[in-house]
Amino acid sequence: MIRIGVPARIGGLLSLAFAALGFAPGTSAWAKTSVQPPVLTASAMAVADSFSADAAERILREGGNAVDAAVAVAFTLAVTYPEAGNIGGGGFMTLYVNGKPYFMDYRERAPLAATKTMYLDQNGNVIKGMSLFGMRAVGVPGTVEGMWEVQKRFGKLKWKQVLAPAIRYARDGFEVSDQLQQRRDDAAKDFGDKTNFGQYFGGLQAGTTFKQPDLAMALTRIADQGAKGFYEGRTAEAIATAMKARGGLITKEDLREYKAVWRQPVEADWNGFRVITAPPPSSGGIGLVQLLKMKADSKPAFAGVTLNSPQYIHLVAEIEKRVFADRAQYLGDPDFYRVPVAQLIDDTYLAKRAAEVDREKPSDTKAVQPGLGTSMPEKAETTHFSIIDKWGNAVSNTYTVNGYFGSGEVVDGTGILLNDEMDDFSAKPGVANMFGVVGSDANAIEPKKRPLSSMTPTILTKDGKVAMVIGTPGGSRIFTSIFQVMTDVYDFGMPLPEAVAAMRFHHQLLPPNTIFWEPYKPIEGELAQALEAKGYVLKGQDFNGDIQAIEVNGNKPEAAADPRGRGVTRIVP
Ligand code: DON
Repeated sequence: MIRIGVPARIGGLLSLAFAALGFAPGTSAWAKTSVQPPVLTASAMAVADSFSADAAERILREGGNAVDAAVAVAFTLAVTYPEAGNIGGGGFMTLYVNGKPYFMDYRERAPLAATKTMYLDQNGNVIKGMSLFGMRAVGVPGTVEGMWEVQKRFGKLKWKQVLAPAIRYARDGFEVSDQLQQRRDDAAKDFGDKTNFGQYFGGLQAGTTFKQPDLAMALTRIADQGAKGFYEGRTAEAIATAMKARGGLITKEDLREYKAVWRQPVEADWNGFRVITAPPPSSGGIGLVQLLKMKADSKPAFAGVTLNSPQYIHLVAEIEKRVFADRAQYLGDPDFYRVPVAQLIDDTYLAKRAAEVDREKPSDTKAVQPGLGTSMPEKAETTHFSIIDKWGNAVSNTYTVNGYFGSGEVVDGTGILLNDEMDDFSAKPGVANMFGVVGSDANAIEPKKRPLSSMTPTILTKDGKVAMVIGTPGGSRIFTSIFQVMTDVYDFGMPLPEAVAAMRFHHQLLPPNTIFWEPYKPIEGELAQALEAKGYVLKGQDFNGDIQAIEVNGNKPEAAADPRGRGVTRIVP
C-alpha cells in the first residue's frame, strides 16, 4: 500500500462597510433586520467530532445562526481535533445567507520573504521534507481573520459567546479518542526530533483528559481583542519570535498585513441544482463542476453502466484525467495569476472535452493536455463541517493545517500548532507535492501569494433553497470524493448516509493510468482484475476521506457523517 505523500501524515467589503457604520461584532445589520420565521423543521450539522457538535448545539440553542455555530465549531476543533482543526492554518467557507451565496477565502499566504526557489538546493532539486516539516513549511495563518470577518458580517451572537466553548475545552480539557492518539503517534514518528511537536502533544493519551492552558490563553486574547488578538500583540510577538529562533520566515509584518478575502463563489447549473462552490485559489470548485458537467455530457457512454463497475470507474477516470491536466496548467492564486474560470467551466468547452473520452480503454496520458492550450495565461490534514440553521442559512467550511498536525511546530507559550501549507505550492514545475499533484508557474511561490488548494466546500440550492451542504478533507482527492457522493445521491438515487459510506476511488492524470483505492472499501477481487485487464494500475492509499454532508428534502434536513472518521451529526429542533 502506498501513502499519499509522506509516511503516515495525510492520514489531517461589506464587512468594512458594516464596521464603518459602527456595527459591533455580533450585531450585524443582517441580525438587526432579521425577523424571519424558521423555514426548516430543525437546524442540522455534520461535524468532525462530538465536542464541536456540543459547541454548535449550544450556540444554536442560544439563538445563534449557522454562521455563529460554524465559528464556534472552527475554534472548538482547533482544540479538540488538533490534527486538522486549527487557528494556525487556513481554509475556505462557502455560505448561503438570506438566500444569497458568499465565499470567504482565509487561505494561508506565503511570507513576504518567500521566494520561488526557497525549497530548492544548489542544483535546483527540491529539498525533501523542507516544505512539510518545521517552520519553513508554514504559511501565514488565515483562520482567525476568516472567522472574525464572517462572524462580524453575518453572526447574531457576541464574538465572545462563540469562542466560549473552545476556551473551555482548552482550559478544562477534553477526553482523547483512540483515533486522535493513533494519528498523534503516526505524526510523532514522522516529526521525530525535527520539531517541538512532542513537547506539546506528548501527553495526549486515549481515554485521558488533555488540557491546553497556553492555547486557552491565546484563545482568550482572540475573544477579548478580535482578530487583533492573534495578528498583533502577544500572540504575533510569540509567532515571530518562534519563527526567528527556528528558521521560519513569518514576521510581525506578515501577520499585520494578512487579509482574508470575500470572493465570488464558482456557480454552475447541474441536474436542476445551483452548485455554489470554491473559486481559486482552490482548484476544487472548478474541478467539481468540470467532473459533474463532463459526466452529464457523457450520458450515452454512462447509459446502463453500473455504479462502481469496471466500466464506470474507467469512464470517471477518463474525465478525471482531463480535469487534472487543466488543474496543473491553469490554476493558482487569482490575485497573482489570471485564472480562466469562465472558460474552464464553459458548457461548450466541457462538452468537447467529454467527447474525447475513450469508452474502451485508458487514453494515453501524454496525449491528454490542458484543454485551453498553453497560450493561455503565461503565466493530511484537513477537516470539513456542514451546518444549516432553521432559517435555511448554510455554512460549508473546509479548513486545514495540510498534513496531520501541519508542520509539527507549536508556537511556544501559545499552544498554536502551525500549518505546512507551503507544500501546496509547486516548489518546482512538474515535481509532485505531498498529494502527488504537479503544478506550473501559475502556482509558483511568491510573497503574499496563496498556494493552490483542492478544498471544495460546496452548497447546492434548488429554487433558491438549500438542498445539500457537503465537503471533505483529502487533498487532491477532495473534489473527486464530493463528485462521487453527489452523483451517487442524484444520479443513482442513493440515500445520503449510504452514499457517504459507499466506496470511493480516485485518478489524477499522474501517475499514468493509476486508480487509487481506500482502505475502508478497497478495490479487490474481480473488480481489481477487470480494471487491471483494462490497463489500469491499482494503488492503495492510507487515506479514506471524511465527508460531512447535509441534505434537505422539503423542509427536513438529514445529516450524514462519514463512517471513516469520528464525525457526528446532530439535528437541533
Ligand atoms: O488545500 C489543500 O488542498 C490541502 N492542503 C488539503 C489537505 C488535506 O485535505 C489533507 N487531508 N487529508
